[in-house]
Amino acid sequence: MHFTFEQYVQSADYIRSRIGSFQPEVLMILGSGLGFLADELTESIQVPYEEIPHFKPSTAPGHIGQFVFGLLEGRRVAVMQGRMHYYEGYSFPEITFAVRVLRLLGAEKMIVTNAAGCIRKDWEAGSLMLITDHIKLTLDSPLRGENLPEFGVRFPDASTIYTPEYRQLARQAADTLGLDLKEGVYMFFSGPQYETPAEIRAARVLGADAAGMSTVPEAIVARHCGMKVLGFSLLTNMAAGILDQPLSEEEVLEAAAKAKDEFSALVRKCLSGM
Ligand code: HPA
Repeated sequence: MHFTFEQYVQSADYIRSRIGSFQPEVLMILGSGLGFLADELTESIQVPYEEIPHFKPSTAPGHIGQFVFGLLEGRRVAVMQGRMHYYEGYSFPEITFAVRVLRLLGAEKMIVTNAAGCIRKDWEAGSLMLITDHIKLTLDSPLRGENLPEFGVRFPDASTIYTPEYRQLARQAADTLGLDLKEGVYMFFSGPQYETPAEIRAARVLGADAAGMSTVPEAIVARHCGMKVLGFSLLTNMAAGILDQPLSEEEVLEAAAKAKDEFSALVRKCLSGM
């Protein structure tokens, strides 16, 4: 499944017809536990995905399918309340469609967050991690197929997908808030099954610090079209095989709920400096 440039434009035109002169600066794609930030925007306008041409609804539990446009920390933001995941059956172009549409609407910055498993044995579940880089061994890429030069080049550089200036901003924000912010490499797994203990051992050898099922496709596409990217993982659980217990969705959601105040304070602080 691939989209033409005109299809992205049609979606952007529809959204523009709903939000008028509001021009979003920052796209926020929020993972488990942070979706509530969308309710804290002022002057907000909701646009359900199902109304938007070429958009697909999100089917993941706990993810509502709509954009919320409005103001947060003095920034004009577009929050995706509900993101799409590969494990839901969507293709990478479908998962990342919104990123390009928001770029057409003028957004040049993106904050992306997720829940992830903690691969590092010397860290704890509940930690917040700044994403410094990622590993995606899944063969597919959201940029596979015809390149749309309106968005970016055929062979984009991937050496700084997560913008160094924003990483510095995040460190300063964590310092100011007195938060312990880890930094590390996020490894993408397609899911929906959690990883096996052997996969986690392999990921550790490869240099990964966290394992998750999102974020990477969106970050690749955002960087391709020239957006600056800031990414965080909430390490909701120790990854498979580290503790002698099975992983469960309940554990992930519980940890996400527990960390929500700290996590949202960090994201808001960063947003105010972007
Ligand atoms: N693995 C992959 N995705 C996740 C995990 C995990 O351990 N925890 C939360 N999302």
